[in-house]
Amino acid sequence: MQAIRMNEPGGPEVLVLETVADPEPGPGEVVVALKAAALNRRDVFVRKGVAKVPLPLTPGSDGAGIVHKVGAGVSGVAVGDEVIILPSLAWGPDQRAPGPGFRILGGPDQGTYAEQIVIPAENVYPKPSRLSWHEAAALPLAGLTAWRSLMTRARVVPGETVLIIGIGGGVATFALNLAKAAGCRVVVTSSSDDKRAAAKELGADVGVHYAEAGDEWPAAVKEANGGGVDVVIDSVGSTWGGSIDACAPGGRVVVFGGTGGAKVDLQVRPVTLGQVALLGTTMGSPAEFRQLLAAVQNQSWTPVIDSVRPLGDAAAAHEREENGLHFGKLVLDCQ
Ligand SMILES: NC(=O)c1ccc[n+]([C@@H]2O[C@H](COP(=O)([O-])OP(=O)(O)OC[C@H]3O[C@@H](n4cnc5c(N)ncnc54)[C@H](OP(=O)(O)O)[C@@H]3O)[C@@H](O)[C@H]2O)c1
Repeated sequence: MQAIRMNEPGGPEVLVLETVADPEPGPGEVVVALKAAALNRRDVFVRKGVAKVPLPLTPGSDGAGIVHKVGAGVSGVAVGDEVIILPSLAWGPDQRAPGPGFRILGGPDQGTYAEQIVIPAENVYPKPSRLSWHEAAALPLAGLTAWRSLMTRARVVPGETVLIIGIGGGVATFALNLAKAAGCRVVVTSSSDDKRAAAKELGADVGVHYAEAGDEWPAAVKEANGGGVDVVIDSVGSTWGGSIDACAPGGRVVVFGGTGGAKVDLQVRPVTLGQVALLGTTMGSPAEFRQLLAAVQNQSWTPVIDSVRPLGDAAAAHEREENGLHFGKLVLDCQ
């Protein structure tokens, strides 16, 4: 089969289309013939060596396809099933956090930028029938992160205001869809006029240009919104202080990313006086993945696809992701 392989860390050019052996399922495993895969910011961190993983590697956490082979002892999954893949393994047994053996497809495990993948049978779930293959492949990692952030961690309720930082991001566009479906008012920030306009077409109520407002962006959010927000979805990291300042008293700031840097300086008083909760999260549990899939089937939104490329053009997709040019998910056609 064909797969994108990364033999060393580096720029997008280290992603090379190679012919590799077809995978065979071991006991309890299945081989999925992938229809499509999708990118996450994590793939860029892995490619650059920021996230350390064993090489050589087939990158990619997101994918959807058709079950092609079934290993010994597998029940409930059959050849020909249309499936979507849960990209994480070994979530903790109490559902509260990743377990000690937690790992992810696309580093350290072999990932989805390929024509086929071998994975444990418990990692495949029925594909939501109303989604296309591209939409289904775009959903898993970012959709699950957005679901857990809003539903499990922030516990949003209808009528609350949710601020989403950097609306161009994959997780951010899922958070917008899910927050609107949950009956929330949504404020977004973006450095791009086009992305703020696109977010409004998807239902965002207010858009703020964070780069133009500089350090005053939390005040700009409050002014545009007519007050502080109830919940912030912050994937940037370096923005935590501003996110806390943008909250109404008792606000919740959900954090899961560090696109803007891995260290932050925070003031104590805005958290204590403002009664603000800082809620860390990572991806989500298998139970939350099932909840997300049920919601997708019953709701009317679809994953936002920035663009679709052939598998062999993974390097070009990485370049677009790394430069933050995308709005929504970058998808690769695997067949
Ligand atoms: N812990 C987890 O389980 C988990 C899961 C998923 C993602 N993440 C992390 O979450 C982050 C987002 O992931 P993703 O895949 O959604 O990434 P992505 O699609 O690459 O999103 C990047 C977006 O972040 C925004 N941004 C970057 N720097 C910013 C800044 N200084 N201020 C405000 N916004 C800024 C930009 O939005 P605009 O272009 O609109 O300005 C950009 O489009 C990454 O750090 C990723 O590693 C963590």
